[in-house]
Amino acid sequence: MTLWQGRLPEGSAGPLFEFTESFSFDRRLAADDIAGSKAHVRGLVRGGILSAEEGSILEAALNRVGEELASAGARSQDGPSQGEAGASDLGATRSAESKDEDVHSLVERRVTELCGDIGEKLHTGRSRNDQVALDLRLYSRRELLVVARELLALEEVLYKRAVEADDAYLPGYTHLQHAQPVLLGHHLLAHGWALSRDVDRIMDALRRLNVSPLGAGALAGSSLNLDPAESARSLGFTSSFDNSLDAVSDRDFVAEALFVLAMLGVHLSRMGEELVLWASEEFGFLQLDDAFATGSSMLPQKKNPDIAELARGKSGRLIGHLTGLLATLKGLPLSYNRDLQEDKEPLFDAFEQVHRALPALGGLLETATFNLVAMKARADDATSSAVDLAELLVEEGMPFRQAHALVGGMVRDSLERHVPLAELVEAHPALGSRALWLLAPGVAVTRRTTQGGAGPKPVEVQLGRFLGHIELDRERIEQFSALIAGEGA
Ligand code: ARG
Repeated sequence: MTLWQGRLPEGSAGPLFEFTESFSFDRRLAADDIAGSKAHVRGLVRGGILSAEEGSILEAALNRVGEELASAGARSQDGPSQGEAGASDLGATRSAESKDEDVHSLVERRVTELCGDIGEKLHTGRSRNDQVALDLRLYSRRELLVVARELLALEEVLYKRAVEADDAYLPGYTHLQHAQPVLLGHHLLAHGWALSRDVDRIMDALRRLNVSPLGAGALAGSSLNLDPAESARSLGFTSSFDNSLDAVSDRDFVAEALFVLAMLGVHLSRMGEELVLWASEEFGFLQLDDAFATGSSMLPQKKNPDIAELARGKSGRLIGHLTGLLATLKGLPLSYNRDLQEDKEPLFDAFEQVHRALPALGGLLETATFNLVAMKARADDATSSAVDLAELLVEEGMPFRQAHALVGGMVRDSLERHVPLAELVEAHPALGSRALWLLAPGVAVTRRTTQGGAGPKPVEVQLGRFLGHIELDRERIEQFSALIAGEGA
């Protein structure tokens, strides 16, 4: 039986159902659908459309359906076959008889089975259009907060490793060529700051997301005595929609969530790429813990960085989800169109992949061993101090461009004639033996003293600022979580 049996009594064709159903994936919205429906029921009671008694009967039925769906969902985690059974217990099979095309239809059907005529009042003043927009906002809000917390956990791992790294240093690269030595802690925190911007973006996206569409109906609002603002408040939303057409067709919040996840995916990808390089024999900067490495089915000697590679690989898919949704949205006229159902699978998948990637990468980083000797050996190349030689001359009044040319010529000479740079420096009248200390191992990195720089002094300050940032973000997350814990939660 369809929701539109009065208008189209013949029922739906099998292929139509197969093509248009969304229960197979939107069952993930079950808890949000129940929470949203309860808020709607309370709104109907407040408006005098339902009696208080009818309201409690409906809420009890909604709670029960919520439990049924939760236990069917729990069973579906045990394996696909049992999952099918779980779904069919609820009548949500693909058979011609019981056609719940989505989670909203299923909930309404079960509530009606449980409380008859009163159940048939549940959908009063509501459409699946405002309902699904509401459910997806509730879902995204919760999942984004989980991602924010997972990000903080990874930031903490980076912070811990950065503190432990102390005064260890490695070559800093531009163009993947040795440029200047940097503290290992500085390098690790560079990734940490990128993640902190992801948290910031989440909080920013949440502010725009936290507007309730409930009450917009199919597209135009209602003649009934409903109060969207009060329903919004009860679900922890900061406000309710200003325009019902916009409310049911706006998926900016999905696109923003997908952008946040894609950007974060790109950050993980860049980290992954470096970890792959560092774990290679050629770099030899990093040894993976056995539990966070994989072997080969054929080559007995292999130890592979699959987590880092998948962190890199999955970012392609996250970018694809964002561009796919934008393409879906771009030609849509107002207001609701069924195309919008295509918002869910990319969003669900993006969250799922990120929820898996963050702890995996965190575990890899927490347990890996840095090969500090190899890092130091590569960084202690005398040419890494070239700019320090030039800056010494600058301090004595030589224009930088001249100093740059002078030292550049010496490096070239050293390479071409296979003479150590130190010898050439010592013999040069403008530099001489007094400049030699700049070439000594470990000196160059200590010369980066300006704020935000790669040397020990600014990195110590940076570590404090980074930790402060993590704490601040944690507070922001807790504050927002408290704000959204509405009465329906
Ligand atoms: N499953 C639908 C979706 O995800 C729910 C809304 C259906 N609305 C409609 N007018 N057919 O978008």
